Amino acid sequence: MELTPDTRLLVLTGAGVSAESGIPTFRDANGLWENHAVEQVASPEGFAEDPRLVWRFYSMRREAAARCEPNPAHHALASLEAAMGARFLLVTQNVDDLHRRAGNRRMIEIHGNLFTSRCSVCKREPFRDERAHVLSDADDLPVCDACLSKGRESLLRPHIVWFGEMLDPSHLRAVERFVAGVVADRVPSVFLAVGTSGLVYPAAGLVRLAQAGGAKTVLVNADPPANLEAFDEFHRGKAGEILPGLFA
Ligand code: OAD
Repeated sequence: MELTPDTRLLVLTGAGVSAESGIPTFRDANGLWENHAVEQVASPEGFAEDPRLVWRFYSMRREAAARCEPNPAHHALASLEAAMGARFLLVTQNVDDLHRRAGNRRMIEIHGNLFTSRCSVCKREPFRDERAHVLSDADDLPVCDACLSKGRESLLRPHIVWFGEMLDPSHLRAVERFVAGVVADRVPSVFLAVGTSGLVYPAAGLVRLAQAGGAKTVLVNADPPANLEAFDEFHRGKAGEILPGLFA
């Protein structure tokens, strides 16, 4: 497929783009971690009930993701951004940091970032945090030093959108602005989805938003997703094999 010099590209990625880096997709794991339902370790209720279990889950995910490397699909998307600049926007449902490590910066991580923490009480800015805090029973739960300086002991939490939590409305507005720019400037556009099951909204609805703005819609996925009929083109297979050769 050819991208003309004025084409804008909106990309949505899901767990499938990181599968070849060795990070199991959400549905591959059957929604379970060490026999705990994922909702138990990835929800505000689960954190209130057992913060140690939640931090052990995320500490292990931090360690595992830090050991993985971006694959050719991540690198292909980083090259597209380098070539297209502001005509490119990446929206990812992944929290694994691999797009950033591959070089993408024009990126919205709608489900948060595994290597970012925030205070569960105060409003301080979320901050980069690569530590695996709780790997054994001897490890302390991480607390907020800003609160501590005021004599309060508040727990840190991962900066992840948990089940039952809202996405950041400014993220959706940024995507809408990108699509509105395509319409206002009357330029061609492509919407590309990679490695996502099309089950989780609002991400699964972005294809319709882009289509309403006139985008050609392209999907690269190992299996037909729930919203297959929304796409003009479907390239079935592995993202790391297909993406590097997809655009001229
Ligand atoms: P899923 O695990 O639901 O889907 C991954 C998709 O990638 C599936 O359709 C696979 O067929 C496809 N796939 C697997 N390996 C692939 C490969 N090598 N190349 C291309 N495609 C491949 O993951 P998501 O759609 O990302 O949310 O799930 C969306 C959200 O569901 C997640 O972000 C998570 C969960 O609720 C939160 O944690 C908030």
